[in-house]
Amino acid sequence: MENKVNVIILAAGKGTRMKSSIHKVMHEICHRPLIDWVLDGVCDFDPAQIYTVVGHDRDQVESHLQDRCQLVVEEKQLGTADAVKAVRRSLAGKPGVTLVLNGDSPLLTKETIDHLIDFHLKSKSPLTLLTADLDDPAGYGRIIYDQNHKFIRIVEQKDANKEELAIKEVNSGVYCFDNQLLFDYLDQVQNHNSQKEYYLTDLVEIFRNNGFGPKTYKTQDPNEILGVNDLLALNVANRIIQKRINTKLLVEGVQIIDPDHTYIDRDVEIGRDTIIEPNVQLIGKTKIGNNCRIGMSSEIRNSIIHDGVTVTSSLIEDSQMMDRSDIGPNSHLRPNSVIGQGVHIGNFCEIKNAKIGTNTKVGHLSYVGDADLGEEINVGCGVVFVNYDGVNKHRSTIGSYTFLGSASNIVAPVTISDHSFIAAGSTITEDVPFHALAFGRARQVNKSDYWDKLPLANSAFWSDDKKSTK
Ligand code: UD1
Ligand code: CA
Repeated sequence: MENKVNVIILAAGKGTRMKSSIHKVMHEICHRPLIDWVLDGVCDFDPAQIYTVVGHDRDQVESHLQDRCQLVVEEKQLGTADAVKAVRRSLAGKPGVTLVLNGDSPLLTKETIDHLIDFHLKSKSPLTLLTADLDDPAGYGRIIYDQNHKFIRIVEQKDANKEELAIKEVNSGVYCFDNQLLFDYLDQVQNHNSQKEYYLTDLVEIFRNNGFGPKTYKTQDPNEILGVNDLLALNVANRIIQKRINTKLLVEGVQIIDPDHTYIDRDVEIGRDTIIEPNVQLIGKTKIGNNCRIGMSSEIRNSIIHDGVTVTSSLIEDSQMMDRSDIGPNSHLRPNSVIGQGVHIGNFCEIKNAKIGTNTKVGHLSYVGDADLGEEINVGCGVVFVNYDGVNKHRSTIGSYTFLGSASNIVAPVTISDHSFIAAGSTITEDVPFHALAFGRARQVNKSDYWDKLPLANSAFWSDDKKSTK
């Protein structure tokens, strides 16, 4: 029975309250557009077809969704009932159940949708509405029952009187319809209300007036029905989703020190006994192994971190760190860097599009760009890979067991062979052969007895008694 369920997601509205040029459903929660979270909830129960109604700024939504669902257009945004009319041509007259939901409800779960549909089918109701009790119902449509507790209508906040405003049970914007009845009665909806809009909610009263008894199904988790109408609600949704993600990880054995200040995306995978310190951001398709420590304020994007790795306050993008390697504080792996097993990247280093072999050390203040480094190399302090001539990027190769003295410039393209030694301060522009010692710097000249000839000798820089040595 369930695979007969069609889904209509309403996402044509203007989203005026967001005060943004970004479409409401394209605002991100944990780096994914809001509409993707809505789709998660409905895709999980495998519906027959998902129709998404687009309209205002529709190109933003269309180019994101592409063929993930069937897109239908509501030309003018005349209200939620008008939006559903856009699907008439595809669905009118067909038997089965249609689930209609607002495109701005990212917290709805598959479980709740399943329960709602089950209840709907068992109670043979023409329309079942998902509701919840809210401590603060402001902004939502209120649920009205008659004295026999029969569900008779929904009144919108803007049309409600004082008594109705005090009602805590609200419309979630999730509706299970008998599909035939939905399209039979949709055209009877009028726009006689304070907003001059065609409200989908009016179908409750219309159904009842025609002898069909709509029902409500109340969820116990009021969070699930949150509708994101403004940035404040987006922030609330973000925090709830983040809490769901972090709680799941904690249960799976990831030690998150401060879950309220740790930002992890839905698809991130983390192994056991890994410690995530406060203010860390783990973004996109990042994967982290077992026994790692991801230190304070690190940011890792779409990267693979293997087992036993330590990251200290560093930024890692589209890269890989192999077992037992470490980085930081304050270093940056730019895209396409592969850091081998046991490699040490110290502080203030930048690595880009480079491969670094097992146990190599890049201790301090270095730039390694467009290079292949072998094993057990010592990269001294301040070594710079000079990879760019202003037009093209060039690549360098450094053999294993080499020693790159501090403050050397490796001017690409150049190859330094295994077991060679680059003297500190060298500018290397030519290949260095196996077992060689390379000097690439001017010889030092000492001019004796020169101090008093220097203008500096008598400058105000020195105190009087230090000015002259004679
Ligand atoms: C709506 C409900 C309200 C419910 C709340 C739950 C109506 C009249 N009111 O109010 O009872 O408590 O949701 O969150 O339905 N849309 C279109 N085309 C339009 C107008 C809206 O596609 O012409 C879409 C919007 O993009 C949005 C959804 O419908 O995703 C709901 O519209 P919105 O303006 O957010 O309605 P609410 O005021 O939240
Ligand atoms: Ca809304």
